[in-house]
Amino acid sequence: MANIIIVGTQWGDEGKGKIVDCLTEKSNVVARYQGGHNAGHTVVIGGDKFILHLIPSGVLHKDKLCIIGNGVVVDPLALITEIEELKARGVAVMENLKVSKNAHLIMPTHVSLDLSKELKKGSKKIGTTGRGIGPCYTDKASRSGIRMLDLFWPEQFKEKLRANVADANYMLGQFPDTKKLGADEIYNMYMSYGEKLAPYVDDTDITINEAIKSGKSVLFEGAQGTLLDVDHGTYPYVTSSNATAGGAMTGLGVGPKCIDEVLGVAKAYTTRVGEGPFPSELMGQEGELLREKGAEYGATTGRPRRCGWLDFVVLRHAVRVNGLTGLVITKLDILDGMDKIKVCVGYRYKDQLLKDFPKEMPILEGCTPVYEELDGWTGHTTAGVRSYGKLPQKAKDYMKVIGETLGIPIAIVSTGQDRDDIIYS
Ligand code: GDP
Ligand code: IMO
Ligand code: MG
Repeated sequence: MANIIIVGTQWGDEGKGKIVDCLTEKSNVVARYQGGHNAGHTVVIGGDKFILHLIPSGVLHKDKLCIIGNGVVVDPLALITEIEELKARGVAVMENLKVSKNAHLIMPTHVSLDLSKELKKGSKKIGTTGRGIGPCYTDKASRSGIRMLDLFWPEQFKEKLRANVADANYMLGQFPDTKKLGADEIYNMYMSYGEKLAPYVDDTDITINEAIKSGKSVLFEGAQGTLLDVDHGTYPYVTSSNATAGGAMTGLGVGPKCIDEVLGVAKAYTTRVGEGPFPSELMGQEGELLREKGAEYGATTGRPRRCGWLDFVVLRHAVRVNGLTGLVITKLDILDGMDKIKVCVGYRYKDQLLKDFPKEMPILEGCTPVYEELDGWTGHTTAGVRSYGKLPQKAKDYMKVIGETLGIPIAIVSTGQDRDDIIYS
């Protein structure tokens, strides 16, 4: 199979994990390139549910190589816990998992800073997952980060850690109630994590390029989504990495010419968890209905997800900035039974009709969605349908509108949580 990047086209939680799991069957390598354990990727196999946070969603297939790339920020304890939990459930995690030496480590200082900064922001908070993601990427960009390889150079690690803790404690000084952290305690903890993770640590840039050169196919698993991308999302209400397709190159050390396809995953409606603009959000009962039917509660934090209609302004932006070659529509079954389905075709801002996603926050906040209404497929169901021909005609019409509006083919439709509830076109 080809080398494919899988990206979220909305604000995350589009069902990327399920799609990566399904496509892994025909791939050799599955690689994460950004984000950290802020991600929660759900895979359901015969009723058994797995939520992957750091380990690529291909791990549930035997004999596939899983790579955590240099662009990922790794909380070592979270990774060890995830490995152990998977092993306890009978999943093989050993030679099939490689973690980049260059991946930056999330330190306890990052978690404290994340939580404290959010508290300080009050009503302007981002609504982060509290996993230390932002502060870790901040240290990376400011060249004071600590990487996986540092765990194997104790003296160097100790020196970097002291500087890191001193800086963090200085900043945490603004927050009188926050407990200050001790470098020695962290040193001992992280040395023991290093011992446990040593078998997995690897020159993943070399491993992945050799795999590609030898004709193996790679799935690049994006976390979060286009509108959470630090450059192309609803800044500052974003995560701190490049979730879009470009991030796959820098986050693993591969060149753009090795990519054959870029598939964007979109829910048949839209959700967002955390703060920030969401033009097609449904505030009342309609939103509540989508949340309950779609079980829209965060896979990582359990927070209720905000829900709204499908938004073509968002998706057009995602097609463009990711160079999407195809679309994957998930959770079509959640729209079963709805009499009417709305799609957002533009934003009204003062006397203008906007078709492109605005970058300026005041404009975005002043936009109201312009909807078109489509017929639902009441009396028919898409849940568990596994061939395109068996979808109700109105559901096919919905797919057609999406494909034609965005000008790209719909490659896959997902009709249920389970691995087998899927239609390939
Ligand atoms: P990810 O972060 O993009 O991998 O998505 P999440 O796992 O956070 O959230 C997607 C949720 O939708 C999970 O609970 C999935 O099991 C579920 N899901 C994925 N595809 C479908 C589908 O087609 N139908 C239904 N009903 N659930 C789905
Ligand atoms: P997956 O990969 C949905 C959101 C948080 C918050 C913002 C910044 O499962 O789709 P962070 O902790 O990254 O600094 O939080 O980003 N966020 C996600 N929302 N799905 C995710 O991952 C997310 N990862 C982060 O809610 O709004
Ligand atoms: Mg998720």
